[in-house]
Amino acid sequence: MTPAIATVTLVVDGRPVAVDAGLSVAAALARVGDGVTRTSVSGMARAPLCGMGICQECRVDIDGRRMLACQTTCRDGMAITTGLPRPARQAPHASRTAP
Ligand code: FES
Repeated sequence: MTPAIATVTLVVDGRPVAVDAGLSVAAALARVGDGVTRTSVSGMARAPLCGMGICQECRVDIDGRRMLACQTTCRDGMAITTGLPRPARQAPHASRTAP
Protein backbone atom coordinates (compact mmCIF):
# COMPACT_ATOMS: atom_id res chain seq x y z
CA MET A 1 0.00 0.00 0.00
CA THR A 2 1.30 3.43 -0.98
CA PRO A 3 1.28 6.01 1.83
CA ALA A 4 -0.93 9.03 1.25
CA ILE A 5 0.92 12.19 0.29
CA ALA A 6 0.10 15.10 2.55
CA THR A 7 -1.11 18.20 0.82
CA VAL A 8 -1.36 21.84 1.78
CA THR A 9 -3.76 24.40 0.41
CA LEU A 10 -2.42 27.71 -0.85
CA VAL A 11 -4.14 30.73 -2.31
CA VAL A 12 -2.28 31.83 -5.43
CA ASP A 13 -3.43 35.15 -6.83
CA GLY A 14 -6.79 34.59 -5.17
CA ARG A 15 -7.20 31.02 -6.43
CA PRO A 16 -7.11 28.14 -3.92
CA VAL A 17 -4.83 25.29 -4.98
CA ALA A 18 -3.65 22.09 -3.28
CA VAL A 19 -0.03 21.00 -3.60
CA ASP A 20 2.15 18.33 -2.03
CA ALA A 21 3.47 19.30 1.39
CA GLY A 22 7.17 20.07 1.42
CA LEU A 23 7.34 21.78 -1.96
CA SER A 24 8.99 25.15 -2.28
CA VAL A 25 6.69 27.96 -3.35
CA ALA A 26 8.61 28.13 -6.65
CA ALA A 27 7.92 24.44 -7.31
CA ALA A 28 4.28 24.86 -6.32
CA LEU A 29 3.84 27.77 -8.76
CA ALA A 30 5.33 25.66 -11.55
CA ARG A 31 3.09 22.74 -10.66
CA VAL A 32 -0.19 24.66 -10.56
CA GLY A 33 0.49 27.17 -13.32
CA ASP A 34 3.19 28.52 -15.57
CA GLY A 35 5.71 29.21 -12.81
CA VAL A 36 5.80 32.94 -13.42
CA THR A 37 6.59 34.84 -10.24
CA ARG A 38 6.71 38.47 -11.24
CA THR A 39 7.06 40.89 -14.10
CA SER A 40 10.11 42.93 -14.91
CA VAL A 41 10.09 46.72 -15.03
CA SER A 42 9.39 46.43 -18.75
CA GLY A 43 6.44 44.09 -18.12
CA MET A 44 8.07 40.82 -19.16
CA ALA A 45 7.18 37.65 -17.26
CA ARG A 46 9.95 36.39 -14.98
CA ALA A 47 10.38 32.99 -13.32
CA PRO A 48 12.81 31.30 -10.95
CA LEU A 49 16.26 30.88 -12.45
CA CYS A 50 18.87 29.74 -9.94
CA GLY A 51 16.74 27.97 -7.35
CA MET A 52 19.18 28.86 -4.59
CA GLY A 53 18.45 32.41 -3.48
CA ILE A 54 20.88 34.29 -5.70
CA CYS A 55 19.07 35.66 -8.77
CA GLN A 56 16.01 37.17 -7.03
CA GLU A 57 13.84 36.31 -10.05
CA CYS A 58 11.40 34.38 -7.85
CA ARG A 59 10.26 37.29 -5.69
CA VAL A 60 6.59 37.01 -4.72
CA ASP A 61 4.43 38.41 -1.96
CA ILE A 62 3.63 35.77 0.65
CA ASP A 63 1.13 36.81 3.28
CA GLY A 64 1.96 40.42 2.49
CA ARG A 65 5.73 40.09 2.67
CA ARG A 66 8.12 40.07 -0.27
CA MET A 67 9.92 36.71 -0.18
CA LEU A 68 11.92 34.38 -2.40
CA ALA A 69 9.72 31.56 -3.68
CA CYS A 70 12.67 29.19 -4.11
CA GLN A 71 13.67 29.58 -0.46
CA THR A 72 10.22 29.28 1.06
CA THR A 73 8.46 26.01 1.87
CA CYS A 74 4.70 25.92 1.32
CA ARG A 75 2.55 25.88 4.39
CA ASP A 76 -1.18 25.47 4.68
CA GLY A 77 -3.16 28.68 4.17
CA MET A 78 -0.30 30.65 2.65
CA ALA A 79 -1.48 33.51 0.40
CA ILE A 80 0.84 34.08 -2.55
CA THR A 81 0.63 37.01 -4.89
CA THR A 82 2.68 36.97 -8.03
CA GLY A 83 3.37 39.94 -10.26
CA LEU A 84 0.65 38.64 -12.59
CA PRO A 85 -1.76 39.28 -14.10
CA ARG A 86 -0.33 42.31 -15.70
CA PRO A 87 -0.53 42.56 -19.44
CA ALA A 88 2.89 42.10 -20.93
CA ARG A 89 3.94 45.26 -22.65
CA GLN A 90 5.05 45.07 -26.21
CA ALA A 91 8.62 45.77 -27.09
CA PRO A 92 8.94 49.36 -28.36
CA HIS A 93 9.59 48.23 -31.92
CA ALA A 94 6.64 45.77 -31.99
CA SER A 95 3.99 48.39 -32.68
CA ARG A 96 5.78 50.14 -35.47
CA THR A 97 4.36 49.81 -38.91
CA ALA A 98 6.15 50.05 -42.18
CA PRO A 99 6.02 53.51 -43.77
S1 FES B 1 15.23 31.31 -8.18
FE1 FES B 1 16.96 32.58 -7.91
S2 FES B 1 16.61 33.52 -6.00
FE2 FES B 1 14.94 32.16 -6.21
